[in-house]
Amino acid sequence: MSAQFYADAMARNQIMWVAEMFGEPVGFLRAKPVDDLLYCAEVSVLRQHQSKQIGKKLLNNFAEFAKSNGFAGISGITFENVPWNAPYYARLGFGALPAADLGEELRQIMASDTEQSLAKAGKRVVFGTRF
Ligand SMILES: CC(C)(COP(=O)(O)OP(=O)(O)OC[C@H]1O[C@@H](n2cnc3c(N)ncnc32)[C@H](O)[C@@H]1OP(=O)(O)O)[C@@H](O)C(=O)NCCC(=O)NCCS
Repeated sequence: MSAQFYADAMARNQIMWVAEMFGEPVGFLRAKPVDDLLYCAEVSVLRQHQSKQIGKKLLNNFAEFAKSNGFAGISGITFENVPWNAPYYARLGFGALPAADLGEELRQIMASDTEQSLAKAGKRVVFGTRF
């Protein structure tokens, strides 16, 4: 994604956390409200800095922010069988959200062209938690 994409996202009140190491950005998480949950639209850590628990800190900060700012919980969409996707989120305490817990906006994201094309690479599932 381009710098303009992220500038536009922040102008639309999306929320970004950026992890820095020695003043350099090494990872980020982008979130936005979807239904009554705070939705993780993207989380990524530079390959050379992965497995240092930076992702864990980003996800825990995101969940803490959601909890202290009145959201009913958190959500995100990910690959079920990629080891650092759904199984990793589940180890952090964010397992699969039951279908009955999915709001209309989240269902629309699941049905979007972007999600349909990602689903060709593997099963997509909704992770998260309700507080
Ligand atoms: C997902 C991601 C943000 C995690 O960031 P991170 O800083 O590496 O996260 P952590 O250090 O907290 O933990 C990494 C976990 O992934 C696991 N992992 C990493 N690479 C792995 C691999 N090749 N096989 C199995 N597990 C792997 C680690 O074991 C660790 O889990 P554990 O701490 O429970 O054992 C990072 O891997 C990433 O940017 N991946 C590419 C983009 C992506 O998939 N984003 C998520 C889209 S939903």
